[in-house]
Amino acid sequence: MIFLLHMKPVIVSGIQPTGKLHLGNYLGALKHFVELQNSGEYTCYFFIADLHSITTDFSAKEKREQIMEVALDYLAAGLTEPSIIFQQSAISAHSELTWLLNTITPFGELRRMTQFKDKSEDMPENTNVGLFDYPVLMAADILLYDTKFVPVGDDQLQHLELTRTLARKFNTKFGKIFYEPKPLMTSVPRLMSLDDPKKKMSKSRPAGCVFIDDGPSVIRKKVMSAVTDSESTIAYDAEKRPAVANLLELYSAMSSQKISDIVKEYKGKGYADFKKGLAEVIIAELAPLQQKKKELMKDLPAVEAVLRLGAAAAREVAEEKLLMAKRKMGLEE
Ligand code: AMP
Ligand code: TRP
Repeated sequence: MIFLLHMKPVIVSGIQPTGKLHLGNYLGALKHFVELQNSGEYTCYFFIADLHSITTDFSAKEKREQIMEVALDYLAAGLTEPSIIFQQSAISAHSELTWLLNTITPFGELRRMTQFKDKSEDMPENTNVGLFDYPVLMAADILLYDTKFVPVGDDQLQHLELTRTLARKFNTKFGKIFYEPKPLMTSVPRLMSLDDPKKKMSKSRPAGCVFIDDGPSVIRKKVMSAVTDSESTIAYDAEKRPAVANLLELYSAMSSQKISDIVKEYKGKGYADFKKGLAEVIIAELAPLQQKKKELMKDLPAVEAVLRLGAAAAREVAEEKLLMAKRKMGLEE
């Protein structure tokens, strides 16, 4: 078995630069990235999934800004050395391994992907081959780095399962060079929309989102108008009272308080008090990130330098793994 030399288990994850990040991205992914990095137990690669982001409608004029926006969010949230932070498209091995993996990917598996079905329904006029192939690119992102764990929200589990299938298939067919990665999820793997607890919080439905850049007055307004239900007590019941349960999960994750303690705190109080409290914990949790982002924005060349350094480090690892794959397939000596 040939693996690259890594001292610690490797973590890889990415976020698409498609607009402002919301609290679902923050609690399902970004905050977790920072915790995993700070545990010191992993070698971490965090990238900006720009190649994935161009599979949905976009404006070339805005793309660069969106890429810098995710870079700023990463750094403002606390990602830093020794984590390797880079832009996906800077490393051509991601695209190249995608092609190699394409040749062992069953067409039927991709056709079954929920995200593909949803997105192609949303944009029938732009159901492009890249959108179809999206999960294979994601598999390449992961397999290039001998990844053990992938921190993502639960909407990515199906893609991760495909990654494991492709690793297994390649290993069996050509020789063992890929690890089968496992997902790592937070306590909030699926934050629901504030205006509809049946739908997940998503950039495509901004009305139900709190964005991590939102200021205090916007946050207060959005939280005060979040849907609840016809009862009046604050209690956790995910089945019968999903809207209030979602707000309690959000409160708990943003304040690091246990749900049972929050319920106790609001015993005998109504939705208005609870929502006021929730807005304040969101504001307090986001304030340091927003402050740091403002400072980072004053020196964008420094942010670009982080990405360049990250790309140089990631490229070395990725190219070595790609070469192994090509050798196993008989394309290289
Ligand atoms: P994306 O913006 O689609 O690249 O997503 C970035 C990360 O955020 C992925 O790990 C997603 O699984 C995660 N994510 C997106 N929406 C939510 C949500 N509503 N709740 C929890 N995690 C989410
Ligand atoms: N598909 C992921 C999303 O939409 C983003 C992503 C691309 C990713 N490549 C990845 C996440 C590799 C983890 C690992 O959220």
